[in-house]
Amino acid sequence: MNVIYPGSFDPVTNGHIDIIKRCAKKFDKVTVAVLNNNSKNGFLPIEKRLELLKETTKHINNVEIDSFSGLLIDYAKMKDINIIVKGLRAVSDFENEMKMALANNKLYPELETLFMVSNTRYSYLSSSLVRELSVFGGDVSCLVPKAVEEALIKKFQGGL
Ligand code: PNS
Repeated sequence: MNVIYPGSFDPVTNGHIDIIKRCAKKFDKVTVAVLNNNSKNGFLPIEKRLELLKETTKHINNVEIDSFSGLLIDYAKMKDINIIVKGLRAVSDFENEMKMALANNKLYPELETLFMVSNTRYSYLSSSLVRELSVFGGDVSCLVPKAVEEALIKKFQGGL
């Protein structure tokens, strides 16, 4: 069984990596799909987000890193994959995730969304937290993989 794990991954965090690893153990193939919609202003360029995901998941054989634009249902149809996996950190994630899952299922009834409960170690962790910490020079070394930390440091030295 193949699944899509979609998101912005701006940037990928240890919480995302935990979900990807756990999915890779349960499913034949995990396609990590990075949203590339222009309307959503990026912190890191899409190419960098893809590069960091590739780098940080390269040791997992059944993971593919890809990007998509437009609607997730159209991407899922194009890939011929009808299972979406989303991580749920807390009840606060649930309302929005449920709306998206129901809307996606309404538009594409074959599509199912499965929720994977985040590890409690990462229940507070989000890309937006990492972005805010890095803008103000906070230490993100225990929140993101090494390659991401290095990319963020480089960004704030004007390198990205
Ligand atoms: O990491 P995020 O930002 O929570 O991911 C949200 C994402 C990319 C999964 C969601 O915004 C999405 O699927 N966007 C694609 C556009 C789309 O299909 N919108 C309708 C969802 S109901």
